[in-house]
Amino acid sequence: MARIALIVGSVRENRQGIKVARWMEGKLKSRDHTVYFIDPLELNLPLLNKMYKEMTNPTSQLVDLRNKINDAEGYMPVTPEYNHNTSAAMKNTLDYFLEEYYFKPSAIVSYSVGFFGGINAAQQLRLVFAELGAPSIPSSFSISRVNEVFDDNGKLVDERYNNRVLRFLDEFEWYIEALKNQRKNGTPY
Ligand SMILES: Cc1cc2nc3c(=O)[nH]c(=O)nc-3n(C[C@H](O)[C@H](O)[C@H](O)COP(=O)(O)O)c2cc1C
Repeated sequence: MARIALIVGSVRENRQGIKVARWMEGKLKSRDHTVYFIDPLELNLPLLNKMYKEMTNPTSQLVDLRNKINDAEGYMPVTPEYNHNTSAAMKNTLDYFLEEYYFKPSAIVSYSVGFFGGINAAQQLRLVFAELGAPSIPSSFSISRVNEVFDDNGKLVDERYNNRVLRFLDEFEWYIEALKNQRKNGTPY
């Protein structure tokens, strides 16, 4: 059981990503995790002007977001692929914070309507999470032709994904547990 921040990467009208994110949320909850569901569409954060730590009077909404990012024991970004990279909405949300992420793992989920499932975005996001101090686990989870994998109501149509996700989640939980145990002994900074 862990506290996991799941970060939605798309704010587009009729976004496919919300289906992936809600499905993943269900998977995590079914394994008894607490999910902090972070949706930039609801947050409507402005393009970064000041990082959270530079703000003298952050809004209660930002305080709440900061507390969730800080309290989370692992991160699961659910990213679309826009021009072979993650989305501006994902990057903007992540950039508000830094130390809050330290010494905790991330598990990257990507998707696209094309055949490659957003793997270019996932690779780019690995670099970002490395810099944030929340290195990504070796596996990433990608969903190709996302518009065919879920129906319009977000119900999973391609049931093979129910099996595919198991090893990815096992691996994520292993790293969450490993780093949690190590943090108990302190961190280098
Ligand atoms: C600005 C933009 C750039 C895109 N670039 C890529 C791309 O590089 N590779 C890809 O496979 N799909 C690309 N797509 C298609 C997306 O995979 C598709 O629109 C997907 O539904 C985006 O996720 P969303 O609906 O959650 O925003 C792009 C879409 C947009 C809007």
